[in-house]
Amino acid sequence: MYTYRLVLLGFGAVGQGFARLLRDKADDLRVRYQFGAQIVGVYTRRASLFDPTGLDTSALLHAAQGGGLSAYPGSPKLRRDLDAAAMIAHPEADTLILATPTDLADPGPAVAQVKRAFQAGKNVITVNKAPIATAYPELSALAKDAGLFFGYEGVVMGGTPAVRLAQEALAGSRISEIRGVINGTTNYMLSRMEAGASYAEALAEAQAKGYAETDPTADVEGYDAAGKLIILIALLFGQTLRLDQMDCHGITEIGPQAIAEASAAGERWKLIASARLTDGKVEASVKPIRLPLSDPLAGVEGIMNAVTYVTEEMGGVTLTGAGAGGVPTGFAVLSDLLALHRKRLAGAG
Ligand code: HSE
Repeated sequence: MYTYRLVLLGFGAVGQGFARLLRDKADDLRVRYQFGAQIVGVYTRRASLFDPTGLDTSALLHAAQGGGLSAYPGSPKLRRDLDAAAMIAHPEADTLILATPTDLADPGPAVAQVKRAFQAGKNVITVNKAPIATAYPELSALAKDAGLFFGYEGVVMGGTPAVRLAQEALAGSRISEIRGVINGTTNYMLSRMEAGASYAEALAEAQAKGYAETDPTADVEGYDAAGKLIILIALLFGQTLRLDQMDCHGITEIGPQAIAEASAAGERWKLIASARLTDGKVEASVKPIRLPLSDPLAGVEGIMNAVTYVTEEMGGVTLTGAGAGGVPTGFAVLSDLLALHRKRLAGAG
């Protein structure tokens, strides 16, 4: 039995979804995997909580859903004065969970937090996409050199294992193309608009359900999907692409009329992310496309996402599953922690 000691930066929908899973599955995880985890620190823009004896997960969730984390009750060892840097490097913690909002326009702070954690000898699990989208080669080398775990399953398709499928199950195959629906918010909105909701109603629902980014512009203008595509290109093709090197369009111009026209023609709008590797060159785009209903991606509705990896050996390998939301993405953090635990048990991490 080993108990990991976690510091969470960010406690929004994903941080809370993860905390709920950790609380509700604690007994099961102990019995099945000899795994335990304690949240010892939570840092957000408004609150800082650190208790080396472990924070009370139910009380954290209760406070977050009520008056905010500053309403978390006091306890003998509780500290409310640590800044993010002190918490990341705290000797009583061993793993950083980076669940802060993604800002692809200003990735510096998130990248620096991951580096600081590795320099302090901590494992890192990130659901913030910025470090992977902008600094994956450097950060993964740092983790490797330090013998630390670097988990990022949640950066593409939440807890649906798009990353582990590509990096582990498909290791050894040659992937030449990636194509998918990889933004949950816009897919949910398109489905809701097809059912009669207005654009504003559909977006408000996606925000209320915890699917959208803190700034939903990233979702509706295609940048979230583009960021995920850049990540898949880095992981699968080993190439670094910037947002401005990609043709990127969102769904802001898809209104009721466009949806009705597609429907009348037996088609459906989908925000499609695609990348192809030809002779070492990558061509990538994110744009709304009218797909015939016979296309498998046309049937991916609501919060579901799907990605197809076109391999030389097996043709297309497709994965479908929930792509956003607090618990589905929180599950990615748990899945990474269990991967860390397996490595630890195997003596490699
Ligand atoms: N805002 C993102 C989405 C969250 O809607 O897909 C998951 O990355």
